Amino acid sequence: MIVVLGKNGQLAKEFQKIYKEKAIYLSSLDLDLTRLDKIIPALNKLCPNIIVNFTAYNNVDLAEENFNNILLNSLAIKEIANYSSSKDIPLIHISTDYVFDGSKESYTEDDTPNPINKYGQAKLDGENYIQNICKKYFIIRTSWLYSRFGENFLTKVVAMCENKSNLMGAYDLIGSPTSAKSLAHAIKYVIECNKAGNRDFGIFHFSNEGSISKYTFLRKIVSLLHEDINTEGIYIKKVKNSDFNLAAQRPYNTTLVSKKFSENFNYRIPFWEDELKLIIGEI
Ligand SMILES: NC(=O)c1ccc[n+]([C@@H]2O[C@H](COP(=O)([O-])OP(=O)(O)OC[C@H]3O[C@@H](n4cnc5c(N)ncnc54)[C@H](OP(=O)(O)O)[C@@H]3O)[C@@H](O)[C@H]2O)c1
Repeated sequence: MIVVLGKNGQLAKEFQKIYKEKAIYLSSLDLDLTRLDKIIPALNKLCPNIIVNFTAYNNVDLAEENFNNILLNSLAIKEIANYSSSKDIPLIHISTDYVFDGSKESYTEDDTPNPINKYGQAKLDGENYIQNICKKYFIIRTSWLYSRFGENFLTKVVAMCENKSNLMGAYDLIGSPTSAKSLAHAIKYVIECNKAGNRDFGIFHFSNEGSISKYTFLRKIVSLLHEDINTEGIYIKKVKNSDFNLAAQRPYNTTLVSKKFSENFNYRIPFWEDELKLIIGEI
């Protein structure tokens, strides 16, 4: 039986659709992870044999000031890691490309993290707790996660197109858009491999193949939406990320190399554009 932390997030929703084995999904109402003292007792009651953590404090700008960033992205992870280590059960945890500073062309699992904002730092601290405390863990770093659920880059662009708003896309942010659906499938596969005896624990990168700017991603979304929404007349402005005046700095290029994942699990990772077409087709 697996316990999935994070019931209503976009990744959790995609996972619930495809994972048909017995699982308990906990929302923040079932277990508020900011209440650190409640975490181990709650897990003790459920007695899982795998924990999958899809929760996060994901607001990168508010994370500069809000202590919940540290509570959810690092201190709660320490508690979960302590539980998983004490029961000797695997922990699957999702981390982020934002642990890197973005100064390289691409990043493998061997590259040294150097976060440039508080969200990236807290997520890295969470990773470090897991690595120091647990023996059986999969930390999967991903990037630019989107889906048709909740608030993400894709759903925001869809809403703006429906409202006929003009759009701005940063040409100086480079990375790999990753559909939450493709990541959910990959996580399901990791669970199956683990059950079948694959014991290659560690850190893995998982992003959809290819690397583009946010501006290119935006243009592609709008062009694919064209069939369902009248996007005629919507102007897409090419801007610098600094034009958005955001509170948190963003790393320039966080392209993740996912070769270790595809080789270790013998898994074909989809190309970003194919995934985007698929997800937009489902909207
Ligand atoms: N979004 C991205 O672009 C991106 C990029 C790289 C990596 N990631 C990582 O990918 C993972 C999944 O992200 P996502 O986009 O699916 O996240 P999301 O849609 O923002 O969902 C966040 C989840 O965290 C849960 N949560 C928030 N506060 C909580 C609290 N106090 N106690 C317990 N749970 C709480 C929410 O609970 P409820 O179930 O109650 O709503 C929700 O399920 C995260 O680890 C994130 O850091 C995301």
